[in-house]
Amino acid sequence: MNYDDFHVPVLLTEVIDYLDPEAGDIVYDGTLGGAGHTVEIIKVIAPTGKVIGVDLNSQTLSTATNRLKSFAGNILPVNDNFANIKNILLKLNIKKVNKILLDLGLSSFLIEKSGRGFSYLRDERLDMRFSPDTWPDAHEVINKYPEKRLREIFLKYGEEKFSGRIATNIISYREGKSIETTGDLVDIVKHSIPRKYGKHRKGNPAKRIFQAIRMEVNRELESIGKVIDDGFEVLEKGGRMVIISYHSLEDRLVKTRFKELEGICTCPHGLPVCRCGVEKKAEILTRKAIFPSTGEQEKNPRSKSARLRAIEKV
Ligand SMILES: C[S@@+](CC[C@H](N)C(=O)[O-])C[C@H]1O[C@@H](n2cnc3c(N)ncnc32)[C@H](O)[C@@H]1O
Repeated sequence: MNYDDFHVPVLLTEVIDYLDPEAGDIVYDGTLGGAGHTVEIIKVIAPTGKVIGVDLNSQTLSTATNRLKSFAGNILPVNDNFANIKNILLKLNIKKVNKILLDLGLSSFLIEKSGRGFSYLRDERLDMRFSPDTWPDAHEVINKYPEKRLREIFLKYGEEKFSGRIATNIISYREGKSIETTGDLVDIVKHSIPRKYGKHRKGNPAKRIFQAIRMEVNRELESIGKVIDDGFEVLEKGGRMVIISYHSLEDRLVKTRFKELEGICTCPHGLPVCRCGVEKKAEILTRKAIFPSTGEQEKNPRSKSARLRAIEKV
């Protein structure tokens, strides 16, 4: 597989600007993917700098490692969850890093070639795991979770208005036979959304449900929260953390955590005294999220939902 054919790095110029890599830096790329960002970072930090390139998907990691052959001295590939940053550094005998990058979306490879049922446009077995070593997979969630739990997941992670109807219809379908493929699931979702709403929806009607299941299967928000907290601890003073998210739930989490690190009071309005007890640990470099230019969005439609936020440790 030639990764260049599949994944175009998003907000590449902006990532380099905000990450500001320097010669000799140790950079933690928690979502190595096709190594599109990492290749450009290595060009700046070489010859002595190193990228710790982490990806939970082993096939992705081996393809990226292959692509980075000519930079073998500058890349430390790791097949793990980026949330395990402290343990990863411990194993590599590295105490601190200068920069942390997370590009949270799905890679084109996972969507188009992995066969893991990430896309509502393909009919594949329900799986949606980044790594086959984790459990549950999407098949288990859809075929075994009780109706109430399904409804909660669809609402919480998909912000799906028709969560209740979709969960009820999944349970009814399951009474006859199990739900095996993404195609089966798309059909159930389509039939659950009243026609007058379905017509006005942007994109595929199953988009929110797929997002919700993927987030449940891979415990995505949990991992993001952990990597921000633990990553910030192992970041050098003056070091930077740059995160690209692809939907509002991820972005909200990143924005809130960054605000807490900057020391902006997050108490509800109207409290007479601050109760959250914040302390300034970081400077936010992106007052507002950075979006891809219209040119980039046209060239790479997958970049449309991307938004970048960055902080510097003080
Ligand atoms: C959008 S792609 C990254 C693309 C990369 N920046 C590039 O330019 O080619 C996201 C990657 O993160 C990986 N990933 C997602 N969640 C992860 C996690 N919790 N830990 C490690 N890797 C993860 C996916 O397998 C995928 O390859």
